[in-house]
Amino acid sequence: MSLNTSNTWIEIATIDELKNTNKIKKKLADNLEILIIKIGNAIFCIENKCSHDEKSLEDGNINESKKTIECSHHGAIFDLETGKALRMPAVTPINIFKTKIENNKIYILF
Ligand code: FES
Repeated sequence: MSLNTSNTWIEIATIDELKNTNKIKKKLADNLEILIIKIGNAIFCIENKCSHDEKSLEDGNINESKKTIECSHHGAIFDLETGKALRMPAVTPINIFKTKIENNKIYILF
């Protein structure tokens, strides 16, 4: 899967929004939701859509040591850094976005 993006850093959230949770959901466009995921000091951003059956990943279990998310629907696992599908039934990657933090704000390359 790939998205048409403008390759621009956009401010999407603040670090404070991830104070009491490790995952927040944001809507970028009509058909595009993302998840911002915090593991330690690292921030990851993925599209909120499993590549297996296009279901939401928001209830997916995060494995902090492996930096993966497991889809709650049929158990596919994805690498949060690369988007790569690591376990069936998914075989194609999910969309990911580069992130950076500046002045307590989270930006994604979109
Ligand atoms: S929709 Fe995610 S594994 Fe099937």
